This record gives sequence, structure tokens and C-alpha cells, in this order.
Amino acid sequence: MQDYFLSIKSLKVAYEQRGELVTALDSVDLSLSQGQRGVIIGPSGCGKSTLITVLAGLNSHYTGQVLIGGKPPASGGETALILQDFGLLPWKTVWDNVILGLKLRKKTAAEIKTTAETVLEKLGLSSLAKRHPTQLSGGQRQRVAIARALVLAPKLLLMDEPFSSLDALTREELQDFLLELWEETKLTTLLITHNIEEAVLLGQKIFIMSSSPGQIQQEVENRLAGATHLRGELQFLEMCSTLRSFLRGRVHDEASA
Ligand SMILES: Nc1ncnc2c1ncn2[C@@H]1O[C@H](COP(=O)(O)OP(=O)(O)O)[C@@H](O)[C@H]1O
Ligand SMILES: [Mg+2]
Repeated sequence: MQDYFLSIKSLKVAYEQRGELVTALDSVDLSLSQGQRGVIIGPSGCGKSTLITVLAGLNSHYTGQVLIGGKPPASGGETALILQDFGLLPWKTVWDNVILGLKLRKKTAAEIKTTAETVLEKLGLSSLAKRHPTQLSGGQRQRVAIARALVLAPKLLLMDEPFSSLDALTREELQDFLLELWEETKLTTLLITHNIEEAVLLGQKIFIMSSSPGQIQQEVENRLAGATHLRGELQFLEMCSTLRSFLRGRVHDEASA
């Protein structure tokens, strides 16, 4: 049996809504090998963020088995979470935002300086270190959020619709940037998106979710992941079209990849 870094088996999450238990996720099985990039795509309300909060260790009210590097999820552990609204503190500079987690972890001043300088340099943010978030473009803000996650040297990167609020070109720039970063760091990642092209470009494994209750409906191995030069080419568009059909529930099991 293959040894997965992230392994989810029979995950079920229910919320209490007006005195009733409503199942948000049911029978979710999902696994990623070390260094693999998974993308989840599915309709609004199908439980994608719920899944991410469980993995980030922010919701322990679940049944089933969730293992990250062989251990159950824990907040403040080796998992980093990046959200759509960047989550930066507006009154702090880029530098102070980036070192926040390191300070919380009581790293020494020397360690903080070296780590933050290295990561800011890698992300092309060194010249912006003294600015405040309001003085940055959306793309720059999201790169700061990525820097803040990377300084903590996570083993698993979780991204919940990280580019949804960005314009199309900035979004493409950040996708290319992330692909380069992954090439270098081989960081195991699970990313959520609404965007079919983004799923095809980034996800080595694509999980299609259906709603009520949220379940993984299809799992697609995607050999086009990372092929930025194929954006807009026929085989890329065909893969997008396949995903679109799955999302609309038009394709039956025997056609899954
Ligand atoms: N804290 C909560 N309390 C009660 N219900 C919730 C809570 N969070 C999410 N839900 C419900 O769970 C379902 C899945 O929500 P969510 O995980 O946010 O979906 P998605 O991210 O796919 O849009 C929705 O029906 C939502 O109303
Ligand atoms: Mg969500």
C-alpha cells in the first residue's frame, strides 16, 4: 500500500443549525503523497472550507481518520493556511506581518532576521518590507501572505481560494510564481479553487466535490499540471471541458480518469 503524507478516510463533519445536525461533509476519502499538489473544486457550500479547517486543526468535531505526516491535525503545527482575503494585519508593515508567526514561536531575533530575509528575497518582496498592506497591490499582498506562511517552514500548505479576489492577469502571474516555488520547495499542497483552468494548471490530483452533503465525486489524475505553456492549447481546453462535465454531473463513473 502506498504511503501517503496526507490521508483522509471516511471523514464526516456535521454542524448544528437551529437545533438540527446538518452534515457538511460525508464519507470523504482523500490522499496526497509527499510533495504532491491537490486541488479541490466544487460548488459553493459543498464543504471545501470545512475540510480545510479540519486539516488546519481549527475544527476537531469530526469523525473518521485524518493524518498529516502520520499525526492528527494540530493548529500552530506544521500546517500553513492561506485565505482569500490574505489575513494581513493592516497596521503592521510587510516585515512585521511576515515575522509574526516566528515571534509567536519564540524564535531568536537572529533566526527571525535570517529566515524572513531569505523568504522575502525569494518572493521578490525585499524592497517592500517597510510598506503597509494598504500600500501594496492585491498580488503583492497575497505574496506577503505566502511569505508569512513559508517562514514557518510548513510541511503542508493549505490554500482556500487564494486568488479569488485578484484580477485575471495578477492571478496568472501568481499561478506561475507558485509553480516555480513548488518546483523548488516540493511542498505538499492542497488548494481550493472555483476556477476550472486554475485546477488544471495547478492540480496534479484534482478532487471534484458535490454538495449536500459534501462528498468527493471524482478524483482525476492530471498530467497537465504545471504546463503553463499549454494554457489555451487544445489538450488543456479538453481537460477543462472534462472537468466542467464532471462538475455538472454529466459524466458517469466509467468515464473518470
Ligand atoms: N460554523 C458553521 N456552523 C454551521 N454551519 C456551517 C458552519 N460553517 C459552514 N457551515 C455550513 O456547512 C456547509 C459547508 O460550508 P463551507 O465549508 O463553508 O462550504 P464551501 O467552502 O464549499 O463554500 C454549508 O452549508 C454551511 O452553511
Ligand atoms: Mg469556502
